[in-house]
Amino acid sequence: MFDTPFLDIPPLIAAEGCVRLPGSKSISNRVLLLAGLCEGTTTLHGLLDSDDTRVMLDALRALGCAIENGGASTRVTGLGGRLAVHSASLFLGNAGTAMRPLTTALALLAATQGGDFELRGVARMHERPIGDLVDALRALGCTIDELGQPGYPPLRLRGGRLDLDQPIRVRGDVSSQFLTALLLALPLVAAERDIAIDVAGELISKPYVEITLKLLARFGVVVRRDGWQRFTIAAHGDDGAYRSPGELHVEGDASSASYFIALGAIAAADGHSVRIEGVGSESIQGDIAFADAAEQMGARVTRSANALEVRRGAWPLRAIRLDCNHIPDAAMTLAVMALFADGTSRLANIASWRVKETDRIAAMAAELRKLGAVVTFGADFIEITPPVQWRAAEVRTYDDHRMAMCMALAAFNPLAGARPGVPVRILDPRCVAKTFPDYFETLFDVVRAEPEDIPVITVDGPSASGKGTLAAALAAALGFHYLDSGALYRATALAALSAGVGDNDPAALARLGGKLDLRFEAGSTLLAGANVTEALRREDVGAMASKIAAWPELRDTLRALQLSFRRLPGLVADGRDMGSVIFPAARLKVFLTASAEERALRRHKQLISKGFSARLEDLLADLRARDARDTNRAVAPLVAATDALLLDNSGLTIEASVDRVLAWWKERSPFA
Ligand code: DC
Repeated sequence: MFDTPFLDIPPLIAAEGCVRLPGSKSISNRVLLLAGLCEGTTTLHGLLDSDDTRVMLDALRALGCAIENGGASTRVTGLGGRLAVHSASLFLGNAGTAMRPLTTALALLAATQGGDFELRGVARMHERPIGDLVDALRALGCTIDELGQPGYPPLRLRGGRLDLDQPIRVRGDVSSQFLTALLLALPLVAAERDIAIDVAGELISKPYVEITLKLLARFGVVVRRDGWQRFTIAAHGDDGAYRSPGELHVEGDASSASYFIALGAIAAADGHSVRIEGVGSESIQGDIAFADAAEQMGARVTRSANALEVRRGAWPLRAIRLDCNHIPDAAMTLAVMALFADGTSRLANIASWRVKETDRIAAMAAELRKLGAVVTFGADFIEITPPVQWRAAEVRTYDDHRMAMCMALAAFNPLAGARPGVPVRILDPRCVAKTFPDYFETLFDVVRAEPEDIPVITVDGPSASGKGTLAAALAAALGFHYLDSGALYRATALAALSAGVGDNDPAALARLGGKLDLRFEAGSTLLAGANVTEALRREDVGAMASKIAAWPELRDTLRALQLSFRRLPGLVADGRDMGSVIFPAARLKVFLTASAEERALRRHKQLISKGFSARLEDLLADLRARDARDTNRAVAPLVAATDALLLDNSGLTIEASVDRVLAWWKERSPFA
């Protein structure tokens, strides 16, 4: 996951490959609730692991459900319709799919069994309407207090007396989640009589209600539907409100699929395709209809039961005019596809966008305009005309995962004729954790940029100047990959020592270097899967590395490996010749120095802290000798690249050094 303040996506030019989707958010949170309310244990496979499902799981745990997480499957033992805990305060983040159904279930349970529950979320959740649902529940006899603004969470649910004689009325034209919440929870009180729900107003987002009905059926609940106006839950007698299906497989998320369908339509040209596994023609999610809309714009989609394969068809894409009421979430992706169309697109009947994670109509208009698009909008529509002149834009995401995910596709601007292509900066990329924590990693796995467009920062400097620490911190701050090039020489040395290859056999050393299977992961270095972080720092390994690094044969072999670290979204490379030989066109080169005295002092501290004894004078003499050797050696001597920026960090903390370099990086960024 990218936990950085921003993520810069370089201009992208092509897509190809296979993605496996995370589990559906809508299905995950519905089946979690149903499993939590029913009797017995339900094993859920392929559940989404994200912010929104985590708050639901935490809530169920707080209510007394037993939950065992076993990687790909989660076992939930439900309450069997009986409250185990009669008082709790639940935090539900910004998950509408948790807030609405839990409010309903707990209001009904508190009214029939007694209880006092408080439900709250993040600030935005307290701006998302729930008044129509509260009204419906109050009409039933539930006692509900609005603790903030009337009509919005936070809410307190405390008892009441149910009167189920009247049919229940709920508005359907603000959010279909109100109806879904009632459908999911009302079986709790439908032992003796059928319960009817009447929908007032035109029901929006009908496919989401269909998901609800299909999942209720999996839990043994029979609902009769008369048009989209009346829903009747059949009395269940002594059978218990819900019957666990035992096991249940959660499909991939069809809304998440939209980004990769768009990807195929925009960038899978020349015989390439994007394959999407986890949803297909048998999906019960309404957003699967996004594939039809993408086809209208030109995509070529091949459907199988549980997968989609997408290629570019018409290019540029065809502008579209579409009523998007049936695919409100995925329609955001159409707004970004519209940037690549041959005219003005109009997405209509999207008023519900205003009450989602943010006001999505206003947000989308503001951010698309930054890229150069011409946008007009009203209370329930948006119209988009592609940019004539693309601009590098800093895209705000409004704590809305879908803003971040769909706007990333704007990085394909070179395919729409942007010359030169412009990068796209996504602010707060972490917000994708709501439904797709690994979204950007998944995206970067299947897209391609021109290598020279992938930014590189090089950090070089004498031994013990702190370049490794600085480089790793820079990489973490920018979400870039990190190449510790010294580790490649050290790893070759380690391999040579264990294979009995001497330092005087350049051909054998080059062969070993060519076979290195080296990965840098969260502070560890893995060689052929084994953790060699400690072994690489060994004295004998360092000494061997310093000798073999002088062989041009080995340096040549390691060159290709070093170049292969230049991957999306960018690279920080530290080591001897990174700025001069390997990445001579790096966008920023830093030559880090510190006085020999200061470096000796740091190394001394480091050794003492690890329990080694060392004399400061010896270390200083060693460093001076090594500086002389490194500077004067014939092959790859230690010299600052002519265009490197010098940073003497003798008197600077690591944080101050990082800040200095980030300020240099900012000066080079194209974002206004
Ligand atoms: O930075 P380090 O101490 O881990 O480097 C190990 C050895 O490899 C050291 O002697 C310098 C050499 N080296 C090199 O020649 N070229 C590089 N790009 C990186 C390191």
